[in-house]
Amino acid sequence: MDKIRVVGGTSLSGRVEISGAKNAALPAMAAALLTEEAVHLENLPYIGDILTTRDLLRNMGVDADVREDGTATLKASDVRSPEAPYELVKTMRASILVLGPLMAKFQRAKVSLPGGCAIGARPINLHLAGLERMGAKCDVVHGYVDALSPGLHGSYLLMDMVTVTGTENLMMAATLAEGETVLDNAACEPEVSDLAALLRSMGAEIEGDGTRTIRIRGVRKLHGCRHRIIPDRIEAGTFAVASAITQGDVEVAGCDPRHLTAVLTQLSQTGAEISIRPDSFRVRGRSPISSKNVTTYPYPAFPTDMQAQYMALMTQGEGSALVTETVFENRFMHALEMIRMGADITVEGRQALVKGGRPLTGARVLASDLRASASLILAGLVAKGETLIDRVYHLDRGYYHIEEKLARLGARIERIR
Ligand code: EPZ
Repeated sequence: MDKIRVVGGTSLSGRVEISGAKNAALPAMAAALLTEEAVHLENLPYIGDILTTRDLLRNMGVDADVREDGTATLKASDVRSPEAPYELVKTMRASILVLGPLMAKFQRAKVSLPGGCAIGARPINLHLAGLERMGAKCDVVHGYVDALSPGLHGSYLLMDMVTVTGTENLMMAATLAEGETVLDNAACEPEVSDLAALLRSMGAEIEGDGTRTIRIRGVRKLHGCRHRIIPDRIEAGTFAVASAITQGDVEVAGCDPRHLTAVLTQLSQTGAEISIRPDSFRVRGRSPISSKNVTTYPYPAFPTDMQAQYMALMTQGEGSALVTETVFENRFMHALEMIRMGADITVEGRQALVKGGRPLTGARVLASDLRASASLILAGLVAKGETLIDRVYHLDRGYYHIEEKLARLGARIERIR
């Protein structure tokens, strides 16, 4: 298994280009199931989860061509079996995103239930409850969701909790349903709006995406389209922290700074100097780093997917910071590994108290999930000596060549195959 080796002590500088957003690309690929015509996607990150989704679609009979230049052509004109097998779903929970499109287009689906993951139980009860209110019958049998409907109909769906993929699944299901669907307390992440834009270019009637209330009027048929995936705000945020933590000077380009307002505001409160342009921003890290509390919430608040990276920064703060995780119940695995590097962190339930001002030392550490692996690289960039990160397959699921991008900014980092 590959490992990543980082030697700390270098201030990063230069310009980094951000890739397309994983969490926008995954639902976009699933949306191809809604039409028999070709869906052309651009700015797709060539990463593990994208290739797993390609395999999932091919397994159903979709002609799926994904290229390393970031383009893809998907044609679902010959779907043989609307099924997502355990073997593929177990490697990527987001496979659940095929459920909505399959129910909308084929009125039946068999999708392996995604089990729990390192960061939480992550049930899909809201996805299933929404489909049932639209007229489907969803049974869980032998580890699979077995869903059937005589034809979905529109409905008013008030989501108990804000769920990103739940909103995306039900929005896709509603595009071909009879009548109007209202999704209330919907997620308004930029990835949800990007999906709505893609669906509209396929002929769907959707309004209100980007707000907590989305209205979808079902249509009889959808057609093919060409769509460019938005930049990855979490990758951009990760590089912003890399510059701040190393007292660097990095321009993060090819992104949409508006999608990162909460993150950039938080970083500037810790003392980093941030200048913003329409499609890029510059982060100059300053010393000392001020310790500032943070609480994660759904968008537009501070994202849970930046919590681990921010914790790494707070290990270098001059005071103490309380990190509160409200979205997932078990998203502090990275803290235990940072403690192995010498950090002073106390975890209690959904809160972690990070006492800064202690130099980190390099160590062998274990990545438990995608964002945890990125946070350990950031900690390694400021640790004394060498850090060796194991299980980086987590990283490859969501970051495109992150070690090469960091090395171009001056980091002493390499992949050990
Ligand atoms: C999406 O996951 C992202 N994944 C996650 O990114 C991200 O952390 C998360 O949204 C929150 O922003 C993709 O978009 C592919 P949720 P999702 O449903 O949709 C509970 C990364 O690092 N819930 O918004 O699975 C759930 O347990 C990944 O890129 C239910 O209880 O997250 C959680 O506590 C990690 N029942 C909360 O809601 C449901 O039916 C929010 O989860 C659905 C969710």
